[in-house]
Amino acid sequence: MSNGIPTVVPQPAVPATTIKPTDLRGILKYVPRFQGQIFIIAMDGSIVADENFSNLLIDIAVLRSLAIRVVLVHGIGHQLIELSVARNIPISNADGSGVTDAATLDLAIRASSRVSHALVEGLTQNALKCATTNAVRALPIGIIRGVDQQFTAKVERIDKDFILELIERQVVPVVSPIAFGPDGRSLRVNSDLLAAELAEALHATKILFLSPAAGLEIDGVVRREISVDALRQILQDEPARVSEYSRSKATHAVKAIETGTPRVHILDGRIFDGVLNEVFSNEGVGSLVYGNDYQQIRKARKSDVRLLYNLTRAAIRREELIYRSQQAIEKNIDHFFVFEIDENIIACVTLYFYPDRPQLAEVGSLYVMPFYHHRGIGKKMVDYASMVAKERGATMVIALSTQSFGFFTNVCGFEEATKDILPEARLKSFEESGRNPKVLVRKLA
Ligand SMILES: CC(C)(COP(=O)(O)OP(=O)(O)OC[C@H]1O[C@@H](n2cnc3c(N)ncnc32)[C@H](O)[C@@H]1OP(=O)(O)O)[C@@H](O)C(=O)NCCC(=O)NCCS
Repeated sequence: MSNGIPTVVPQPAVPATTIKPTDLRGILKYVPRFQGQIFIIAMDGSIVADENFSNLLIDIAVLRSLAIRVVLVHGIGHQLIELSVARNIPISNADGSGVTDAATLDLAIRASSRVSHALVEGLTQNALKCATTNAVRALPIGIIRGVDQQFTAKVERIDKDFILELIERQVVPVVSPIAFGPDGRSLRVNSDLLAAELAEALHATKILFLSPAAGLEIDGVVRREISVDALRQILQDEPARVSEYSRSKATHAVKAIETGTPRVHILDGRIFDGVLNEVFSNEGVGSLVYGNDYQQIRKARKSDVRLLYNLTRAAIRREELIYRSQQAIEKNIDHFFVFEIDENIIACVTLYFYPDRPQLAEVGSLYVMPFYHHRGIGKKMVDYASMVAKERGATMVIALSTQSFGFFTNVCGFEEATKDILPEARLKSFEESGRNPKVLVRKLA
């Protein structure tokens, strides 16, 4: 030092960490996006037995602390095989996808109790409240290709209100692959199937499948991302291209996305911090199967008329929509688009053009079945109709709404306008209806 006095370097008040501000910013951007959403975390039995299990529980505690609502589903294959070997009792199937005979069911119940207990214990150690339930009701699969599947079952019904109530009370539901039949007796369900069914019933935004493999392996290579269309095609045409271990997860990922879950992740549950990296980074560490936003929307057909009539009846009673007879729907069927889940129509929207104002289109008769509200389907329908309008040359879409104008302005980016914007013929029907709806417009950039 020039004056001989040592310079005192100010020390940071907080000790330095390895987290860079840029990392933190990257993570924080996901937090509001995921708040309040439901993630289904489906762990294979071997992951519960792995040494990384205790770290996974900490990851789950982190998700909970960020107000992400978590439902845990577990498999039991690993523990079932261990029990079978230890007790020298042969099993008919390990993963709930083949025949479950009485001896296998008995061992499966024991294996399931062990795994559920390990989860409950681990969650307790992380100060998380949790509960195992009888919320899953099942039905025996019956005879498939001449073979009685005995105690192997499919999900018949999920008591979603029960599970949602637990979640509301900050309890993590732990769901085991032993479900209950009509007579209350135990039945075995495949845990990948169970995760997909729970995701549908609870309107989850993600499933995270945790297995002891690096991800979804296709042609011997782990795919980091694949669209549901591409994966469905491979599973239909050349299933052997998907590694045997990944196949059940791949099949149920497709099922989950087709029934409304936007994203499914398949990742190695043995990797330290794997879950947090997958959820909070752009790259992720496993495989992501994603849906096409508009894949469930199609043009309505004549055969949909009765369904559309029945679908919208309740909204008409509440005066949310204008009454249309079946004949009127049939006459205008070419203007309807529908949203399907599992081949059931759950939402509709119409799109009209005015011959004298080709740059203007009108979005109407928007309806989403209440069970499917708050999942972005209403916005998707409006966005889709707007996209079609733009493709056909419109520069602006309008919507007339009496009760849902807040949805159009706050969610879909419409602005309020005056009725002068309406073409003459539309203005006439607007005034004759006596409903006095708000006129809303959206410019198509
Ligand atoms: C309006 C409707 C289509 C929204 O469907 P949806 O699939 O739930 O919509 P999205 O999931 O895309 O958006 C949900 C958001 O819309 C907003 N929203 C929904 N209905 C609203 C209303 N009546 N007023 C103001 N905002 C509303 C809320 O902000 C909601 O956010 P949240 O999920 O955080 O609560 C649906 O409620 C419906 O079918 N209603 C009855 C028929 C109707 O009114 N149609 C409009 C005729 S013009």
